[in-house]
Amino acid sequence: MGWRAQAPLDMKKLFHTSLPVFVADTREVADLSVAAEIVGLLAAGETVLALPTGRTPVGIYRELIHAYRARKASFARATTFNLDEFLGVAPDHPAGFARWMEEQLFAHVDLDRARARLPRLENADEDRAAAARAYEAAIEAAGGIDLLVLGIGRNGHIGFNEPGSARTSRTRVVDLAPETRADAAAAFGGIEHVPTQAISMGVATILDARRIRVLAFGAHKSDVVRRMLIDPPSEDCPSTFLRGHPDVKLFLDREAAAGLDAR
Ligand code: GLP
Repeated sequence: MGWRAQAPLDMKKLFHTSLPVFVADTREVADLSVAAEIVGLLAAGETVLALPTGRTPVGIYRELIHAYRARKASFARATTFNLDEFLGVAPDHPAGFARWMEEQLFAHVDLDRARARLPRLENADEDRAAAARAYEAAIEAAGGIDLLVLGIGRNGHIGFNEPGSARTSRTRVVDLAPETRADAAAAFGGIEHVPTQAISMGVATILDARRIRVLAFGAHKSDVVRRMLIDPPSEDCPSTFLRGHPDVKLFLDREAAAGLDAR
């Protein structure tokens, strides 16, 4: 089975925004572009990736699995850190991110599970600050994050850094915004079952990554994409902090870019 990464020829680059924005005719082109960059890093040697959950990265993971099956990529020298996890969910919880990552990527490639980390806090009596510090220390011990893949929440959150998150924030326990819990209600079988808290890399943890690749697809993201690129950087919309990063790229489909064309 062949897998060939194409150059992102059919993407339009917007120059009038505060960071490089690529608008793809279809989201598959964006998926392939980011997947190809990851495949390049994997081929180059020891690589540390930071990975998100949600609908946004599914296509990238599908492309990475294709690349692995086509023997174009190996995760043998990769370490991964997930951005976030709901508080109190066990690794096998059907709505938890550990199981989701297993289904969407880990089970299908040659990644050593000992090198696939998620921030974790299963019991209320655990020392939260110590768990958060341990996650930061593990990232540092791995040599820092080479490439971090990111989606954006409808309210501008990155990871689970909800509005109000400081630019200097590090991995910690966070309160989830009502709209974030509503978005997770289906997975948990009702909003009453969605945890009220999560553990997430902080904004500063994210900004420490050497490369950040952000993706947003669909009309429901157009408003937050516009805010991310145009609003003054502030805690009100944590994705605005990405604009200060030296190597960040934003990939959109036409629907998510609609609010930019209007300007
Ligand atoms: C969740 C995750 C985020 C993700 C966001 C967007 O809240 N914690 O990391 O970026 O949802 O999700 P989706 O990609 O499904 O739009």
